[in-house]
Amino acid sequence: MYIQPEKGNSKGGRPLSHAEDTGSRRDFLYVATASTGAVAVGAAVWPLVDQMNPSADVQALSSIEVDISEVDPGTQLTVKWRGKPVFIRHRTEDEIAAGRETALEDLPDQTSQNQNGWAADASDANRTLDEAGEWLVMIGVCTHLGCIPIGDGQGDFGGWFCPCHGSHYDTAGRIRKGPAPLNLLVPTAEFLSDTVVKLG
Ligand code: FES
Repeated sequence: MYIQPEKGNSKGGRPLSHAEDTGSRRDFLYVATASTGAVAVGAAVWPLVDQMNPSADVQALSSIEVDISEVDPGTQLTVKWRGKPVFIRHRTEDEIAAGRETALEDLPDQTSQNQNGWAADASDANRTLDEAGEWLVMIGVCTHLGCIPIGDGQGDFGGWFCPCHGSHYDTAGRIRKGPAPLNLLVPTAEFLSDTVVKLG
């Protein structure tokens, strides 16, 4: 199945930056957990029940193809896949350098968390979709309690920040600080061409 980016992820034929994309994030179904009481205003929590019990129509979308031709360096496209947000980030040279210069010893989670099974450790090169490290594809669900992290150079490590309880992810989506125990999950993905990525 071929899909175009969801409404809100492009504007005038170009992908939106994270800041512009804020509206599209609201397109996802967010349910704040009343029990935590610590969820920041506007923060999004992915319903755990949805993760455990995907509906039949969601399961049917076992794989999708995404057009990334208009995702410029320094921007991120968010698509919905299997009921979850997926971040497709076109990283800048600085983001790549920051990810690749980080020592494994500095990482709380030193496993790649990459479903493609390329390698076991969390080095930057083991998490990106291409060898040059320009493309990073991740499930956009915080590994703490399921909020949707904020991207576009956020947090103390220039990657993603989860405002629910203060988890900071770096430019490779690896947890660096805060309560989240694991790196953001890299799903099964591959390039079908220079401009199309297949998820699943
Ligand atoms: S859900 Fe708690 S820090 Fe992200």
